[in-house]
Parts: sequence; structure tokens; C-alpha cells
Amino acid sequence: MSRPIRCVLVTGGAGFIGGNLVRLLLRERPDWTIINLDKLTYAGNLESLVDLKDNPRHQFVRGDIANAELVEHLISTHKVDAILNLAAESHVDRSILGPGIFVETNVAGTQVLLDEARRANVRFVQVSTDEVYGSLGPTGKFTELSPLEPSSPYSASKTAADLIALSYRRTFGLDVVVTRCSNNYGPYQFPEKLIPLMIANALESKKLPVYGDGQQIRDWIHVDDHARGILAALEKGKSGEVYNFGSENEHPNLFIVRELLKLLSRGDDLIEYVKDRPGHDRRYAIDASKARRELEWAPQVPFAQGLSRTVDWYRENRGWWERVRSGVYRNYYAQNYGARG
Ligand SMILES: NC(=O)c1ccc[n+]([C@@H]2O[C@H](COP(=O)([O-])OP(=O)(O)OC[C@H]3O[C@@H](n4cnc5c(N)ncnc54)[C@H](O)[C@@H]3O)[C@@H](O)[C@H]2O)c1
Repeated sequence: MSRPIRCVLVTGGAGFIGGNLVRLLLRERPDWTIINLDKLTYAGNLESLVDLKDNPRHQFVRGDIANAELVEHLISTHKVDAILNLAAESHVDRSILGPGIFVETNVAGTQVLLDEARRANVRFVQVSTDEVYGSLGPTGKFTELSPLEPSSPYSASKTAADLIALSYRRTFGLDVVVTRCSNNYGPYQFPEKLIPLMIANALESKKLPVYGDGQQIRDWIHVDDHARGILAALEKGKSGEVYNFGSENEHPNLFIVRELLKLLSRGDDLIEYVKDRPGHDRRYAIDASKARRELEWAPQVPFAQGLSRTVDWYRENRGWWERVRSGVYRNYYAQNYGARG
């Protein structure tokens, strides 16, 4: 992209990947300002951004990506040069219980953002997911040309958003790049997702619920590597292109759970097998060679090291996930920002 970047609008920046991305951008691009727009759903947690509260280059705004007026106001007031869209309903299990909000936020919300990006003529990076490809057999990897066969309302809503974003490129000439990444792990992940859930349960000596036979295979990538990928897509991605990110760490869920138990010095007796999730994809594996080649991107965090660092983080930040589990984190906004409206 040709336009120099000074200000980026990150959506969903109070979530897991968004928060880690905002930190990476502030660190790696010291002359950028970040406007962080997040609705603070149950998954958004301002306590994850506490260290950025007084950073003059980071401005948090509570709001919905589907609010066109607000988005337009933020883009014009701050002279936003690019939008990184991470805001989403992101939990597959929740999409099975209630798909409606997934369509509202992930599809309709993204479309509103795209319209505003178009109006302002700014680059738009849609952070999509490898789940758009559906499930793989025992061999092979997803490339950017693999058919899109999402299995859950979550992945179907992400697929719709991904394709609408690409359609804005073809139809309106909007400068759009799409990224599709595999499963992330790392600090500040909401403890409903596999790795933080298992760590937190083990630390509380609770059972570790494993779906079905635990043989569902995922490709795990450290969140910092994904964040570096998003930055590379923003700066080096070709307009209209899709880039896969993955780390070649394919492991069955049960293997991950056992590794975590080892790192926490706990026994396998904590594992409890529970009924499988409907439509549970068996295997994902990502071919990220295009991103390696065209974006000069490569994952930097070896899996064993990343997993062990992640366990340490949840051990050392017990207060963070305990407040998430108890729901107390939801008061943080009112306590700290309430007076400012
Ligand atoms: N977690 C993964 O492994 C993974 C992998 C690939 C892609 N992704 C994608 O990356 C993005 C971030 O995922 P995550 O794991 O950090 O999710 P997350 O659930 O932790 O965070 C999502 C954030 O979006 C915010 N949000 C939800 N609806 C909103 C709305 N209408 N307006 C503004 N903000 C809203 C939430 O408050 C939350 O802070 C998602 O788009 C997801 O599909 C995630």
C-alpha cells in the first residue's frame, strides 16, 4: 500500500488477539496512533489493556462496529489511514446456542465498516479465520484456494464477512486484504477457549472437559505471530489477496491437554471426556507459504516455548482470569470510564 500510516483503527482491541495486536503495533510502530473500537461484549475486557490506559498513542472507544455514524466520526476525526477488523463474536459453542448475534456483528457489522472504509478510501484488513475452510481429512493442508466449507454458524458468519470484504475490492475497488489464521494461544485469552480453560481448571483442581475422543487436530500459533502477520498483511499485502497464517504445529486437542497437565505438574486423572460438539471439525492444517513468500512473514515462537510461557502467564496472572470467571471484570469499565460517559 502506498499511503503512509499514522493512525490505525483496530476493532475488537479489548479482545484476545486485538489486545495483543494493539500492544505489538504500539511497540513496533512508535509513530503510529491506535484507535481501539470495541463494544465490550462479554469477551471484551478492558483489564487486559490496563497498562495502556495512559498511553497517548492509544485511544479506547467503547462502541459497536455496526454504528456507521460512530465509525465515520472516528475515521474523519482521527484521520484514520487503515482499518484492522478483529471485532467479532468468536466462540463456536456460543454460535450453536445463538447464531443471531454472529450474523449481526460478524456479517452486518463488517459490512458497515467496509462502507465507511470505502467512503474514506482507506485500506481494510479483514481478520478472517482458517475455519472458513471447514474440516480436512487426515492429509493435506488448506491453501488460499481451498473451497470454503464452514461448519458452524460462527465460521459461516466469518466466511460471509470474508467474501463480502473481497467483493468490495472487486465491485468498488476498495483496498482490501484478508487474513485467515489458525488457532491462536497466548496471554489474555478468554478462559472459555481450550488452552486457557484447561490451564485455569487445572490450577483450580477442576475437571478438564475434553470433547468427544479429543482427537480433533488444530494448528496452533502464538498470538504474537498472528499479530505480526496482520501487521505484515497491512503493510505488504497485495490488494484483493488472501493470506493464510499457520505455524505447522498440528496437534490433537488431547495432546495439548496432556502437555498442559505436564507443565502444571498435574495428572491425567483431571481429564473428563464430554459429549462432542455438533459439527465439530476433525482437522485443520494451514499452508502459510504464500504469506512467507509474499509478506516475508514467518512464525517466531516455537510451540513448546510458547505453551510454557502461556502457562506461566496464567499462573502469574491468576487475578485476571479469576475476575473474568467471576464476572467482576465487567465492572471495570463503569469504575474506570463511567464518569467519562
Ligand atoms: N482466536 C483465534 O484462534 C482466531 C483465529 C483466527 C481468527 N480469529 C479472528 O480474530 C478476531 C479476534 O478473535 P479473538 O479470539 O481475539 O476474539 P475475542 O472474542 O477475544 O474478541 C473479540 C472482541 O470483539 C469485540 N466485539 C464483539 N462484537 C463487537 C461489535 N459489534 N463491535 C465492536 N466490538 C465488538 C468484543 O468485545 C471482543 O473484545 C475475530 O475476528 C476472530 O474471528 C481468531
